[in-house]
Parts: sequence; structure tokens; C-alpha cells
Amino acid sequence: MDRLQQAIQKARKERDSRHPQPAVPREDQHPVPEDSPRDEDFWLTLPEISIEPRLISRNRLMSYSGGPDATSYDMLRTKMLQQIISNGWRRVALTSPYSGCGKSTAAANLAFSLGRQEDLRTIVIDFDMRRRGLAEILKQSGSHSMADVIKGKVPFHEHALRHGNNVIFGLNYTSTRNPAEILQSRKTIEFLEWLEAEYKPDIILFDTPPLMASDDSQGFLRNVDCALLLAAADETSIDHIDVAERQLAELTNVMGIVLNKCRYISGTFGYEYGSYY
Ligand SMILES: Nc1ncnc2c1ncn2[C@@H]1O[C@H](COP(=O)(O)OP(=O)(O)OP(=O)(O)O)[C@@H](O)[C@H]1O
Ligand SMILES: [Mg+2]
Repeated sequence: MDRLQQAIQKARKERDSRHPQPAVPREDQHPVPEDSPRDEDFWLTLPEISIEPRLISRNRLMSYSGGPDATSYDMLRTKMLQQIISNGWRRVALTSPYSGCGKSTAAANLAFSLGRQEDLRTIVIDFDMRRRGLAEILKQSGSHSMADVIKGKVPFHEHALRHGNNVIFGLNYTSTRNPAEILQSRKTIEFLEWLEAEYKPDIILFDTPPLMASDDSQGFLRNVDCALLLAAADETSIDHIDVAERQLAELTNVMGIVLNKCRYISGTFGYEYGSYY
């Protein structure tokens, strides 16, 4: 067992003792199939996601196949893991000052990078409910959204998709009219408690709406352990990053700022596009 796996197991034990799971999971609203095993095989009962090869470069799923193309996102994954493990965090939000900074692209790529950490269980939830962001990048179709799951209209196990045996996606196939109210609701808090109790993830990664475009995520961000702020080089101003960081710091722990979509001078870092953290 390597050092990272040992650290993950230690952090898992410490965190579970600090955050005991709810005694009564809300089985009525989020039922688990009766014959579901409660161990790792439980994850394997979810349908597997299928990614079209042409999406890998078209939608910048650079981390899907691993290797040199995945380096930027693998580095980000590892830096995030170091903080997550040492602080005992589990819920991580990706946010940005405005739209288009690369949150959904990063959420998809981090999911694949985290998936290569075999001892780590990751759930990626799209809480940007106004659009099909992550579902569009992964080119998945369906008829429900995470809002429907939270409202109890569809069980999570019927909605979720699995990648490998340690990553689960909760996507939005439809848009929601009142995401701020849903994200701030008691039902969302209870759903997350149920999700942690039932699936025992090490990390839940949330793709969330931009901070300064609406109040959609302001209430919700108090329910995460930390957030990563993404900004787009050449697009997001320093002032906007500054304001967004201060807003975010009032709501949760700021894990860091990623300057995304950087154009490096060829040869310096080996990539034309990348991220700087
Ligand atoms: N590292 C990157 N380098 C270059 N382009 C990128 C990078 N990451 C994302 N993009 C591109 O930027 C655009 C916006 O990306 P994405 O949809 O992931 O952003 P977002 O922050 O989720 O936006 P929104 O807030 O509207 O949901 C897309 O065209 C995507 O391909
Ligand atoms: Mg998005």
C-alpha cells in the first residue's frame, strides 16, 4: 500500500469519527434496491457511463485516457488531494466569478483523474441546475435533473452513472427554474447526508453556478468543506477574482485559485493550454 493510500485510509477514519453519518437515512425519498449489497459492489450496480472517443479532444476531456495529456488535471487533482486529506474535507465545490471559466470541463477531467486513484471513491454532482453543463460535455442524455433527485421524483440510483468502479456522476439532463431555492433547501442538505451515508464517498465534487452571475450557489456553498475558484486567463479581471475570492471566503474555505485557459509559451511547460495553480 503506498503512502497516499495509507493517508487516504487514515483521513477516512478520522473524518468518519468527526462527522458521524445520520442515524436514519431517508430511504423513503432515496430508496436503495432491496437486494443491493452495501459494500463496494454497491457502486457497480449503477449503469456505466459511455464516452464517445471523438469527445475526448472536442470537449477537452484531456484526462480521460491518462498519460501526458492528463498531466495538468492530474497535477491539480494531487494538489487538491493533499489539502483534502490533511484537512479532513470531503465536499469540494468548483466555482468561478462568471460563466465560461472551465468549471464543468475541470469537473469532468478531475473525475477521470480521481478515478485513477483506485483507493478513492469520488462522486461528481452537477449543481449548476440552470443548464446541462456536465451532461453536455460528457454527451449524456436522460430525462431528469439533480433537482428531481433532491425533490424525490427519481431515485439517485436510477439517475446516476458510474465510471469504473470508483466514480459516480449525478448530471442534469433538464434545466431547473428555481435553482437558488432548491440549493438552499433542507432537502438538499438531507440528500447530501443520505448520499454520504449510503455511498460512503471520499470526495464529493460539485460543479456549481458562477458566483457573481446569480445567487444560485451562495446559500449552498455554506454546506461544502471547501471551494476551488477558477478564473479564465485573458478573460477574468483581477478585480473580479478578488471580489469572488472574498465572497467565497465568507461562505467556505477557499482551497485555491486556478488560472485556467492559460496560453503558455510553447516549450516552457510543454503544453499550449494549461492551468496555473
Ligand atoms: N483549460 C482550458 N483551456 C482552454 N479552453 C478551456 C479550458 N477549460 C475549458 N475550456 C473551454 O471554455 C469553455 C467554457 O468551459 P466550461 O463549460 O467548462 O466552463 P464553465 O465554467 O462550466 O461555464 P458555465 O459557468 O457557463 O457553466 C468551453 O468552450 C471549454 O471547452
Ligand atoms: Mg459549467
